[in-house]
Amino acid sequence: MKSRKPKIYVSAEQCPQAGRERMIMPQPIEVIGNNARNPEPELLQRMRDTGAVFMMGQNPDLCVMPERPKLLDFFHFRFSDIAYMHLLQSAKLALDGGQEEKVVVACLLHDIANGALLRSDHGYWGAQMIAPYVSEEIAWAVQQHQALRYFADESVGFKYPDAYNQFFGADYKPPEYLCKAHEEARNHRWYMTSRLITIYDIYSFQEGWDLDPDQFTDIIGRHFKEPEEGLGFDNSPAAHMWRSMIWPHNFL
Ligand SMILES: [Fe+2]
Ligand SMILES: [Fe+2]
Repeated sequence: MKSRKPKIYVSAEQCPQAGRERMIMPQPIEVIGNNARNPEPELLQRMRDTGAVFMMGQNPDLCVMPERPKLLDFFHFRFSDIAYMHLLQSAKLALDGGQEEKVVVACLLHDIANGALLRSDHGYWGAQMIAPYVSEEIAWAVQQHQALRYFADESVGFKYPDAYNQFFGADYKPPEYLCKAHEEARNHRWYMTSRLITIYDIYSFQEGWDLDPDQFTDIIGRHFKEPEEGLGFDNSPAAHMWRSMIWPHNFL
């Protein structure tokens, strides 16, 4: 992971609420249905007993983001190592495969929701995150890859991924809404843009690649409209999603 930019941290004293214990409440989606893992009652009691507060703003355990963050800043400073490599490898394979730039960008962004936000229905979340900044076709392709990965297309050499038999069990069947999404996507004029995501996707969990995200700067510049105010601060319909990755531990 040599190509990741060095991270800059600040001390707890330089963060909001300095000098007080700052507690992190897990997101509801992490603990739903599992009361044993939900610390909400204890943390509220701790607040009353000790004067501790809930985390708002910069967490000293996370590196500081630039004031006006751009797309690649989230790659460098927020995404998990696995998501970081997976997205870069997918995009590189599409580029080396001679695909159009819109496909390369779709591959680079296809699992962006997994980077630092949410895994469940990640194609849909990811499409909403990027929709204000990319073409309708790229956002559509990212959304539809959610469904297409579950359905083989022998005409382009795409088989149901072996990994899914391990992840979900060999008897797993995708739910109705994904079956319908697949049917609709198959008949859509942008089908192949999304299908190509799935083709470059399945090979992209390799160890030992040292890919510098900056090699995609020019392509990103042509296909991703970076807001002047920075991602999270441009008042777009998706700005809150980017802010949630900048300050993922905000209590509210
Ligand atoms: Fe995905
Ligand atoms: Fe993927």
